[in-house]
Amino acid sequence: MDIEQSLELEAWQLLKDSIIYYQDQPIGTLAACDPDASPLNYDQCFIRDFVAPALVFLVRGYPEIARNFLEKTLLLQVKDPQWDFFKPGFGLMPASFKVEFGADNQWLKADFGEHAIGRVTPVDSSLWWLLLLRAYVRATGDVELAHREDFQTGIRLILDLCLVSRFDMFPTLLVPDGACMIDRRMGIAGHPLEIQSLFYGALKAALELLLDNSDNHYFIQAARNRLFPLMRHIRDEYWLDLDRLNEIYRYRVEEYGEHGLNKFNIYSDSIPYHQLIEWLPTNGGYFAGNLGPSHLDCRFFSLGNLMSVVTSLASDRQSHAIMTLIEQRQKDLIGHMPMKICYPAMEDMEWKLLTGCDPKNRPWSYHNGGNWPVLLWVLASAAIKTGRKEIAFEALAIASRNISQDGWPEYYDGRSGRLMGKEARRFQTWTIAGFLFALDLMRNPEYLSLISFDGDPSPIPLENVPNRRQSHAARQWANSSVG
Ligand code: GLC
Repeated sequence: MDIEQSLELEAWQLLKDSIIYYQDQPIGTLAACDPDASPLNYDQCFIRDFVAPALVFLVRGYPEIARNFLEKTLLLQVKDPQWDFFKPGFGLMPASFKVEFGADNQWLKADFGEHAIGRVTPVDSSLWWLLLLRAYVRATGDVELAHREDFQTGIRLILDLCLVSRFDMFPTLLVPDGACMIDRRMGIAGHPLEIQSLFYGALKAALELLLDNSDNHYFIQAARNRLFPLMRHIRDEYWLDLDRLNEIYRYRVEEYGEHGLNKFNIYSDSIPYHQLIEWLPTNGGYFAGNLGPSHLDCRFFSLGNLMSVVTSLASDRQSHAIMTLIEQRQKDLIGHMPMKICYPAMEDMEWKLLTGCDPKNRPWSYHNGGNWPVLLWVLASAAIKTGRKEIAFEALAIASRNISQDGWPEYYDGRSGRLMGKEARRFQTWTIAGFLFALDLMRNPEYLSLISFDGDPSPIPLENVPNRRQSHAARQWANSSVG
């Protein structure tokens, strides 16, 4: 890989400088180390932000930081039922934490979103945590950690939170707006793709990590039951390519009853056909951002699509089509800094209504069409997985032109990502680590196995599905009424 050695050395040094210590042990990394910006909450370690650094540390021979992180964050997970409704719920993992110092002691202070701007819920934290635990086990062979009783309990609590029966009738997870990397209002409430792809990977990870014993039996069964319908639903209903667009274009609407094709009553006028039919290359395709009643969000969301490739939520054919789209629409999706968080940006009235007039998310900025270099490692993973390494080579070469001179910014603005993000922090840790892990992956494609999944789940015949994951009350009722 033809990247200047000094660039790599600089990134590696910056990454090491961002490490947070707790009781003299490395336990995570600061979100950013920008000397010129107010820290706000960037002086914390975010679970999602630590994924790229952890992967770098794992492959570069420093697994203890990932292990300490997993152990300490597990202690922060909410372990008691909460009766205060303004407190985080049972099983939730925090969005972030920081080390607080007293006169002669230290403690970890977690934020579950109750201090975050907009009070957003970090649904993705638990899912990333599971993916990271699996990556740690794969990199080190230390399966004993995952098999420890406290870890097994932590995994069960996450599954409990995700799999319990809820109001909706889909295998996808229903979440509020801003529940993931896009942690501000962006019109992604409902069943956003990013959460679904992480959920799919997290279920697979849990199945690999849970011991086959009586405590886990119910959870293993419930996770297995969920995988196939989740995969089918996303592959069938979220997929957009030219064939599918033609189908939707001629959909009938207002179909009541069991046999309707247009299950979600999508009105073709809601789809930006004129742009999409020009934009979609013949062999390209992607998963829509969200799906709900009369709602098909046709924006391309990079993290959700790339993680669908990495977790094999997308079929082989779909994975190739996603990579073809990225390659053919390089100008829009990669531009001057890989890569767009979503495309296209919402403008005018749509921006006003769906972001609540958020100036940080004005068109082609930040979450609303900004370019985020952290996505490089996910792009590299998907490119390797599909045998399309050249896409990642090119992206890395583009990133390496300016990223260091610009001071490793959090994000870039503008249609093609030419402007440094208006409010972007510099020396953003996941930017640095995303670049490094992409580089490590290109040199050693076998590292992909830390984060990727192969194979499709099998359908479980309905008569063998015991029941859906039930709430505690429903389980008690079921037990008391047996016999
Ligand atoms: C921004 C990002 C979020 C990230 C946080 C810390 O809020 O949207 O995904 O975790 O910054 O870097």
